[in-house]
Amino acid sequence: MRRSPSAPRAAGPRHVAGTERARLLRGRATERAVSALRSAVRRVVLGHGVMVPAPTCAVGAGRLGRRAYALAMTLPVPRPDRTSLVTGASSGIGAAIARELASRGHGVTLVARRRDRLEALAEELSGRHGVRVEVLVCDVADADQRAGLVPELAQRGLAADVLVNDAGLTTFGPVHAADPAAEVVMVRTNVEAVVDLCTRVVAGMVVRRRGAVVNVASTAAFQPLPGQAGYAATKAFVLSYTEALRAEVHEHGVTVTALCPGPVATEFAEAAGWSDAEVEGTLPRALWVTPEAVARAAVDGLAADRAVVVPGVANRVLAGAARLAPHALLLPQLARRHPALRRP
Ligand SMILES: NC(=O)c1ccc[n+]([C@@H]2O[C@H](COP(=O)([O-])OP(=O)(O)OC[C@H]3O[C@@H](n4cnc5c(N)ncnc54)[C@H](OP(=O)(O)O)[C@@H]3O)[C@@H](O)[C@H]2O)c1
Repeated sequence: MRRSPSAPRAAGPRHVAGTERARLLRGRATERAVSALRSAVRRVVLGHGVMVPAPTCAVGAGRLGRRAYALAMTLPVPRPDRTSLVTGASSGIGAAIARELASRGHGVTLVARRRDRLEALAEELSGRHGVRVEVLVCDVADADQRAGLVPELAQRGLAADVLVNDAGLTTFGPVHAADPAAEVVMVRTNVEAVVDLCTRVVAGMVVRRRGAVVNVASTAAFQPLPGQAGYAATKAFVLSYTEALRAEVHEHGVTVTALCPGPVATEFAEAAGWSDAEVEGTLPRALWVTPEAVARAAVDGLAADRAVVVPGVANRVLAGAARLAPHALLLPQLARRHPALRRP
């Protein structure tokens, strides 16, 4: 029978196999091209130690250039007129991240309320690594004090190429027995300050087409947590906000990472009134990661343009499981085990 010219050609086995092969080859060629582009751009960025200038890459080559620029996103190379603004730098994870950045040649601006701690760290970092260190005493739960940070940097001739929102705290106990004022301070510190500082600092990064942001969430972000209901909710907010922010600014040359540590030995538990016996009785040893290892993972994560960093294998496994487990089964178990809900 003759085929009409407009009728589609019958797809015999040979034709189907040919089409499939062509599609596979096209897919592999695209993959190879993207991978070659990615390594070329990374070579330029890392090999010469400079970011590809946005005008050359993005404007000159249009959409392809913008895509290439996005692929090149990494921790900006240190410059004398740039700094890394680190909140919560007087203790624990924040101090460790400031040390890690300084050891890689980044100038740092240390932010927290305890001036003596910040000044001691500033002396240590400038002495050991020869980087420029600023100390800005600020209660990040206070909107007026926060608003002064970026103008203060500008007055000192600095702009933030790196922002680390680490300052944070937890309350401990059931909501019905909580102090409302303490809950609100926690939300202001863990959530309001993160949103405010990201908004103020990322605007400049987008204009300059370079920058890196780490927002410190927690593995508590991956499921609700009876006994620390408000805290886990603030960290779920930080994780969600950070992932969305990342998707917005990625093509503007800014990389954004959510850091989600499990238990870390800092002043965090003690500040919440959580006794050593309660901590040790609840959190298995395998989950604990040092502040230094968390800081290294955070800065490596920025350098590798990672969206979410969960330091420690055991924490990654638990975080994955918590994301999948039905809450109806998981939450009663967590409520039964949480020391804050077992107190007399
Ligand atoms: N340790 C953990 O097990 C763990 C696990 C997951 C996530 N995290 C998160 O990691 C971050 C750092 O905690 P950490 O473990 O390093 O605890 P930490 O040792 O208690 O340090 C908390 C830091 O936050 C600062 N801070 C608290 N409130 C502040 C405020 N209103 N204004 C300015 N700075 C403030 C503190 O400085 P000043 O008191 O001097 O102001 C301190 O530098 C927090 O966001 C926490 O939620 C901790």
